[in-house]
Amino acid sequence: MTGSTVLITRPIPEAGIRVLQSAGLKLRMNQRTRQYAEDELIDAASGVQAIVCQLADPINRAVLAAAAPSCKIVATCAVGHDNIDVGAAAEFGMTVTHTPDVLTEATADLTWALLLAAARRLGEGERLVRAGAWRGWGMMQLLGADVFGRTLGVVGAGRIGQAVARRARGFDMTILYAARSAKPAMTELGARHVPLDDLLAGSDFVTLHVPLTPDTRHLIGAEEFARMRRGAILINTARGAVVDQAELIRALRDGTPAAAGLDVYDGEPAVPQELLKLENAVLLPHIGSATVSTRNRMAEMAAREVVAVLSGEAAAHPVPRP
Ligand code: NAP
Ligand code: GLV
Repeated sequence: MTGSTVLITRPIPEAGIRVLQSAGLKLRMNQRTRQYAEDELIDAASGVQAIVCQLADPINRAVLAAAAPSCKIVATCAVGHDNIDVGAAAEFGMTVTHTPDVLTEATADLTWALLLAAARRLGEGERLVRAGAWRGWGMMQLLGADVFGRTLGVVGAGRIGQAVARRARGFDMTILYAARSAKPAMTELGARHVPLDDLLAGSDFVTLHVPLTPDTRHLIGAEEFARMRRGAILINTARGAVVDQAELIRALRDGTPAAAGLDVYDGEPAVPQELLKLENAVLLPHIGSATVSTRNRMAEMAAREVVAVLSGEAAAHPVPRP
């Protein structure tokens, strides 16, 4: 393993670099301030034994083919792996790993930050104060939605969905969840397993936590918005394409959902102008896991996977082969 080369597609925290260097690995690091385009990735990936990538890198068949003769592992610093052609990696005999668990609590916290911001119109309030346009306390000013005691609908009750639901207990919320199978941990929280349509009709807040797959692409579109309660609020910290973005813009203009809190976008980092103009959308730049300690742990975890696989050991968190 010593002397093997690892491509790092964008800078990662030192914690990860230290793990790779202390294993005697050589690093080929993208020094640009932007991510590699596909052709640059293809160039950079050839001849390496491992790739440490990030969620916006298009790790498609062409990139994997360029790396394939020598590369044993693609370790993404993310839990979501919809940017990687996992099937092609398997064909080329490469292990793909990701970073589950270590980012669950940070992402659940951020989901709640968005939920509260959308309910209580924090973005609008901040813009008002910063613009010097606030004329003082007003009985009718920036009236939002209650959170305490309302109903939360969790779509996708895995690690993050469950962590979001746990926090809802502190707000004395009724919890509904839609999932392919019942989750004992959700039952313990007092949450009710319901079909998606019932969740949409019965929730004041709908929060999305499914991975992006062919099944979940546009899981929430025009029909789903039509089923939502008037005044309901949508939160998406999963992936942008889980929601039909054009329909979301239309629905937000029509008032159902009444507001949305978004950390992710279809086609990010591009965000449609129409969405930018909507006061009832709280918009964040995909920062769900962005805390110092979480990012350190993600980098360290990805680096340890590289060292394990290049040493002939099994990966701790392989992405299942399709
Ligand atoms: P997870 O533990 O795998 O949970 C995902 C859940 O979604 C699983 O319980 C799965 O159900 C469920 N699911 C899959 N397809 C479904 C469908 N068609 N209908 C209903 N449920 C379905 O993953 P996680 O760690 O919670 O992460 C979830 C996603 O969050 C990631 O894939 C990523 O895209 C996103 N994420 C975003 C950020 C951010 O920065 N905004 C940070 C971290 C993660 P089963 O249990 O039945 O398989
Ligand atoms: C972030 O979006 C992740 O999938 O880790």
